[in-house]
Amino acid sequence: MSRYYPDSKVEIQGLFAKFYDNLLNIASLGAYTRFINKAIRLMQINPGDTILDFGAGTGRNALLMHQYLSENGEILGLEISEEMISQFRKKSDKFDNINVVKQRIDQPFSLDKKYDKVFISFVFHGFPFEIQKNILRNAREALKEDGEFVMLDFNEFVTDKTPLYFRIPFKAVECKYAFEYVERDWKQIMSEFGFNNFKEQLFFRNHFRLLKAKR
Ligand SMILES: C[S@@+](CC[C@H](N)C(=O)[O-])C[C@H]1O[C@@H](n2cnc3c(N)ncnc32)[C@H](O)[C@@H]1O
Repeated sequence: MSRYYPDSKVEIQGLFAKFYDNLLNIASLGAYTRFINKAIRLMQINPGDTILDFGAGTGRNALLMHQYLSENGEILGLEISEEMISQFRKKSDKFDNINVVKQRIDQPFSLDKKYDKVFISFVFHGFPFEIQKNILRNAREALKEDGEFVMLDFNEFVTDKTPLYFRIPFKAVECKYAFEYVERDWKQIMSEFGFNNFKEQLFFRNHFRLLKAKR
């Protein structure tokens, strides 16, 4: 599959997709596991929540979110990579209330109902600005009136002012869209798209952020 956005690094393919979870665990020396567990706990998921997971990856996050749901709650992952979808299905097979569909999040789509939460984890930073606006529109459209958009991603910062231990790997690994993303004021932009009541939690010396916004 060729990349839709050749300069992006979130369209993960091949061996990187196949071993995505393990590579994150190894590269972070286990810190990623503690971080993602904590971030998902801080989402304050209600037992009956219906959750859309934009760019759901291997299903690792879906399974963590599922711990907080009752049988009335539900998770639907939207994903484009066949490899990721197959891992997601394998992981979530035994749960009727976790599903995944092949669906782009950067183009308009319609679902047969509205959701309590839209979650997007380490996907948003990897798109051009105009496309990020489409994703915000899609998230708003998919949410119930009092629904919540939850974005786990890099925080905002001036890259060249970050400490070297962060700046060097960030510049080595990330794409040009990520460099633009971190320097924008997302609460201001999101409020122009109808989101409000922002709450945020910061991690890893403020380089990562869980940002919640009400529709
Ligand atoms: C960096 S991974 C993050 C996966 C997961 N959210 C997580 O936190 O582990 C980015 C994911 O977004 C998916 N993706 C990229 N572009 C997408 C698009 N346009 N629509 C849906 N999913 C997309 C990729 O296939 C990949 O699984």
